[in-house]
Amino acid sequence: MSCRVAVLISGSGSNLQALLDAAAQEDAPFSVTAVVSNKADAYGLTRAEQAGVPTSVVNHRDYSSRETFDHALIEEIDKCKPDLVVLAGFMRILTPDFVRHYNGRLINIHPSLLPKYQGLHTHKRALEAGDKEHGVTVHFVTEELDGGPPIVQAIVPVKEGDTPELLAKRVQVQEHIIYPMAVTWFAQQRLQMADDRVQLDGELLPHHGVQVSA
Ligand code: GRF
Repeated sequence: MSCRVAVLISGSGSNLQALLDAAAQEDAPFSVTAVVSNKADAYGLTRAEQAGVPTSVVNHRDYSSRETFDHALIEEIDKCKPDLVVLAGFMRILTPDFVRHYNGRLINIHPSLLPKYQGLHTHKRALEAGDKEHGVTVHFVTEELDGGPPIVQAIVPVKEGDTPELLAKRVQVQEHIIYPMAVTWFAQQRLQMADDRVQLDGELLPHHGVQVSA
């Protein structure tokens, strides 16, 4: 049976699009069964509708606390009985309750080579630090923000004259490759998190996960 994937978004949804495209391939081991946004005007909702995937909006502004918002979010997500929950540009900090509820089946994509540059403005920070390499990480989500164990990282060279925007574009090309890759591994039951470490095909991965170079 195909792995049921719920995708959470807040914006453009280009990573969602990469997942929808991968799910549309013949023999894809997963299907996107729901897309949930905290913003009603997120373009990703249009992408989902065009792919025939049910969408819903849970607006954080309608809730008085993070806890009540996250419980409403869980209720909405669980309607589609997902095997995996994928954060794809979902710009809310999640509560420990939420993270525990989806323990081992919640993944995120973060535009840096974690553990470097947790949080925002990663491309700008990498350029300011004079890094020669930057990149993106798909990781399991744990209670530490951007701190869960990496599954796969794509390393992207920093080029002379790069701006945060140019670098972000080059990184996004890799995002759209490694996110469907990680979801496919999970769907094929090749990927697990145990004791904050990641196993792929029964082998413990190094702390940075699988690394690919652009
Ligand atoms: C991506 O850059 C991702 O790394 C970060 O948020 C952005 C989402 O972009 N977590 P999109 O909405 O998938 O286009």
